[in-house]
Order: sequence, then structure tokens, then C-alpha cells
Amino acid sequence: WGPYGHAIVADIAQERLTPQAQKAATALLALENHQTLDQVASWPDTIGHVPKKKGGAPETLKWHYVDIDVSHPAYDQARDCPDRACVVEKLPEEISVLADTHASPQDRLVALKWVVHLMGDIHQPLHAAERNKDMGGNAIHLTYFGNNANGHMNLHSLWDEGVIDHEANLHVGPFYSIEPARAKQEADRLGALITPDEAQYWVQDLAAGDVHDATVNWADESHSLARSVAYGALPANKGADVGKAYTELTWPIMQLRLEQAGVRLAAVLNTALGND
Ligand code: ADE
Ligand code: ZN
Ligand code: ZN
Repeated sequence: WGPYGHAIVADIAQERLTPQAQKAATALLALENHQTLDQVASWPDTIGHVPKKKGGAPETLKWHYVDIDVSHPAYDQARDCPDRACVVEKLPEEISVLADTHASPQDRLVALKWVVHLMGDIHQPLHAAERNKDMGGNAIHLTYFGNNANGHMNLHSLWDEGVIDHEANLHVGPFYSIEPARAKQEADRLGALITPDEAQYWVQDLAAGDVHDATVNWADESHSLARSVAYGALPANKGADVGKAYTELTWPIMQLRLEQAGVRLAAVLNTALGND
């Protein structure tokens, strides 16, 4: 997702933390003078494109997604993530560090930032799919309501932020800058649509126990939605403009995925920070 998507997921989760998890998260965030999860939600996107000698972490660029070709029905670790440097393997690793009360607060804060971010990314359908080696749609250039964002509009960015920004009338400024109050507004709107039954259903796989198994399920859900909707509903003629029809099909799915990511992030944090 883009900065609004990640902030919305963080804001939905923030409201669903237990007092215990809330307190533990606040203590970790305070190490960097932050107060709320949304303030760190996009940090992993700021370090990947910075060289190592300048303090960046290019090796983490692959942690945000997993390329599962659309010809496959589901994730297979040996085939799709042989080096274990993809979102499906990194997310449970970071959750373990966050849950480790013997790890240093600094390390746990870094893990918290990754968990908030990757819980969002794994729910973005195109972060768990590729077609014809298109890098999750990054190679599919298109226009959206006639706009090509100076050549930067592509299928992936449309799902990360193009449709959200269009539908919620949001605007991303330079250096990922957003209006936190607008993200919160959108999170409150989506949060109010979530019924208790839905929320409980969405965390069933987590409640069943194994975090890695649950993570695989979330990636598989994303992959299915990429096949059926993100790619499936795309006009077949290359370079066609994408607009109203595609938005009407995809925006409900995007909202659902942001809601699920937020509810599940809260559940993960409530467990990981429950022993502090
Ligand atoms: N780069 C390569 N594949 C990608 C994907 N599925 N999502 C985001 N970035 C990618
Ligand atoms: Zn993305
Ligand atoms: Zn990301």
C-alpha cells in the first residue's frame, strides 16, 4: 500500500488494542518520540531505496511481497520464497522478535514497525501475485480516468494508492507526506463497518495457533483476489484506460483488505505484547 493505506491499517488496529498491548506499544514508540502506530507504518518504505553505506537497507526491498505466479493456486515456500526473504517468512520472524520480552526495546521497536507495515502489505492482493514476471503489476502501465501520473501509473500503484486516493479524495505529498487526520477519518469510517462476527471470523486462523500458518492463509487470500479481481477484471486490451468499471469492482475489495489487515494487526499485537 501507499502511505494512506498503511496509516489506515495502523489506525484501525490502534482502536482495537487491549489496554495491555496499547501500553506496551506506546512504550516502544516513545523510544523515537512517537505516540501512535500510524506514525511508523510507512517507515520500511523509506529505507529500501537508500544504499547501505548511507544507512539504508536495500536487502529489505524483497520483504514487502511474494511473487506467486498466477498459474499457481497458492503459496509454496520452496518455489516462491526459497531464500525466505519474502513477506510470508519475514512477517512471522518479526512477530517473534516483537513478542520476545528478552529482546532489546530497540530491536522490538524495529520489529513493531515491520509488523505494522507487513500486516498491511500482505493483504494487498498484488503483493502476493505476479503475471508474466510483471512484478505484481508494476510493469503494467496504464491510465486511470485518463491520468498517467507522468508515466508512473501502473496496475500495482493503482492498487497501492491510486484507487484509494481517488475514492477517498486523499492526496499524498512529497516524501510520503499525508494528513494523519484524513487517514484517521477513513479508518474510523471503515472501522465502523466491521461487525463483531466478521472480526471474529477474520482472526480464526490466528486463534487456531500457528502464526506462520495464518500468514500463509493471508497471502493465499491475496493471491486469489489478485487472480480473480486485480488481474481478472482488468480490460484485456493493453493500454486501455481504467476507470469507473474497474474502480467499482476493486474499491470494495481494497476496503475489505484494509479492514482485515487492521483487525488482524490488532490481534497479532494483542498477543505479541500481551506478556509485557
Ligand atoms: N516487486 C516484484 N514483485 C513485486 C510485488 N508482487 N509487489 C511489489 N513489488 C514487487
Ligand atoms: Zn506495493
Ligand atoms: Zn511495503
